[in-house]
Amino acid sequence: MKKFFIYAVLCCTIFALVVTSGCAGPKEADKLVMGTNADFPPFEFRNEDNEVDGFDVDIAKAIAEALGKELVIEDMEFGGLTQALNSNRIDIAVAGITITDERLLEVDFSEPYHFAGQTVVVREDEEEIKSVDDLDGKIVAVQLGTTGDMEAEERFPVENIRQYNKINEGFLDLANKRVDAIIIDVPVAERYIEIKGGCKTVGGVFTEEYFGIAVSKENPELLEEVDRVLADLKESGKFDEFINKWF
Ligand code: ARG
Repeated sequence: MKKFFIYAVLCCTIFALVVTSGCAGPKEADKLVMGTNADFPPFEFRNEDNEVDGFDVDIAKAIAEALGKELVIEDMEFGGLTQALNSNRIDIAVAGITITDERLLEVDFSEPYHFAGQTVVVREDEEEIKSVDDLDGKIVAVQLGTTGDMEAEERFPVENIRQYNKINEGFLDLANKRVDAIIIDVPVAERYIEIKGGCKTVGGVFTEEYFGIAVSKENPELLEEVDRVLADLKESGKFDEFINKWF
């Protein structure tokens, strides 16, 4: 009886271990999992084949290749990336992420790989709004959890801010006059204007931001590899090829 009991407890423990490790989403050693939010062309977006494509994807592919791993892409909400890194669901977050002091408390970043800043997008026929300083009392769209969102929250009351998980929907609402302006990173603003038409940027760029690849603080070896690959890509001219391809 006693033996049976010990056996039963052992079985339950093993079962529980297997189940819980399953919940944490065991990552296969031969795969590099990139978390992103594919709503940010040309950094990451869905192409005609509905695959996640873009500048960041090319960089992540190069990192995976250098590590001898297969790249797996997890398209998720932008605001969920940090948590996904820290729960080990993804290995790297590549999503045009601005390196900020707040984010550095939670994750590590690679060396900066791109320079950008926030700008304001309005409808093409808009004449009143000429820069971010003209947005008082206006309805402003941002992507939830982004630096554009933070800038808006610092300047405007919450009731004037519309937060979207997909800024694509913010652009639709701009066209439909449900919002008056969008605050977003300038390269992405320019790409959306090309794709959608009917809108323009005003006032130039009003923040200075650097994009980095985020890695969990538990994974300094991977961060080192990422920085090494970024340096190699720059040295070999591959990085410039990616720039010419996407910008
Ligand atoms: N650069 C901004 C930030 O870090 C926006 C990034 C949004 N990226 C995306 N893939 N949707 O907050």
